[in-house]
Amino acid sequence: MIKSVTAVEGALSVAWDAGGASRFPYLWLRDNCTCPLCRDPRNGQRLFDALDLPAEPRPSRATAEGDAVSVLWSGEKHESRYAGGWLAAHDPSPAARARRRRHLTHWGAEIANDLPQADWPRVLAEPVEERRFLKALAAHGFALLHRVPLEPGQVATVGDRLGHVRVTNYGRLFDVISVPNPNNLANTAMALGVHTDNPYRDPTPGLQLLHCLEAGAPGGDTLLVDGFRAAEELRRRHPEDFSLLSCLPLPFHFADASADLRAATSIISSDFEGQVTAVHFNNRSMSALDLPEEDILPWYRAYRRFAAILREPAGELRIRLDPGDLLIMENNRALHGRTAFDPSRGRRHLQGCYVDKDGVESRRRVLERSVA
Ligand SMILES: [Fe+2]
Repeated sequence: MIKSVTAVEGALSVAWDAGGASRFPYLWLRDNCTCPLCRDPRNGQRLFDALDLPAEPRPSRATAEGDAVSVLWSGEKHESRYAGGWLAAHDPSPAARARRRRHLTHWGAEIANDLPQADWPRVLAEPVEERRFLKALAAHGFALLHRVPLEPGQVATVGDRLGHVRVTNYGRLFDVISVPNPNNLANTAMALGVHTDNPYRDPTPGLQLLHCLEAGAPGGDTLLVDGFRAAEELRRRHPEDFSLLSCLPLPFHFADASADLRAATSIISSDFEGQVTAVHFNNRSMSALDLPEEDILPWYRAYRRFAAILREPAGELRIRLDPGDLLIMENNRALHGRTAFDPSRGRRHLQGCYVDKDGVESRRRVLERSVA
């Protein structure tokens, strides 16, 4: 609750009943006026341009009215009201901004018996369960669904229910399939190190879904590594290597008869305050570095140290997908791979698709506001 407001130089200071005060710059307050002349009441879209505002708006009066602040702007005949809860939720002080930051759960091998998971029929039927599942997915960067019907194409049905399937040159979905081949008994299908899928796309797919239809072949367990935790580990042990991988771009490339896909990005992306926001790691599709000569060897030193951290057993989560299981991964965080398997001793069939992250996050937020 608001205790009092005071006009100070360039900003309004709001003192709270609970103690402390927050400062809100006048131009920011004026720009965020929510009156029907300033914002479309139907959708909250701003109805004026930044250049329509005075460069230095000043209040002629600012008062606390119940749990709101009312500001009459000097020279404009315009009055704005700001609810106390809205101001508190947008407090620009360092402590308040730290509280608002996305709080992620870093994980590794230790959560093998405590996976973020749900039953698909319950998620479909119960909005509260769907909200819980989507929150767990957002916090961990992956989550597992059980009891998804054993029918081809279900992976895209799940994708379109939680968000929007992203169609690529591989189509709406793709098959990862291996059938027993008696002529090839000695061959073991290769292990795959953990990676980001398709970093040669711009943007890189946000989420990957993998639905297990058959798991008869021994081996082929799914490996997951928290790329954000690994990046933080690199920053802790070798800050200079973290900086190199955060600023130097790496080109990725994929080409076949009908496609030529290229994108360049740093292996680690961070926001302006240094919080890791994305990891792009894919040994198979990384292309030749295109950097000044003096940066090349330092980059490889950093890359190899990061690759070594990604292989550490403490960070590696192993999941045996059974038929009907569907794994959802944030592609730029939960790096995935698999152990080797023996294709001569059983069928293995997964179907996958990509889903844009914004649609799934939007669905979670809508559920958060509408589900008690
Ligand atoms: Fe992959």
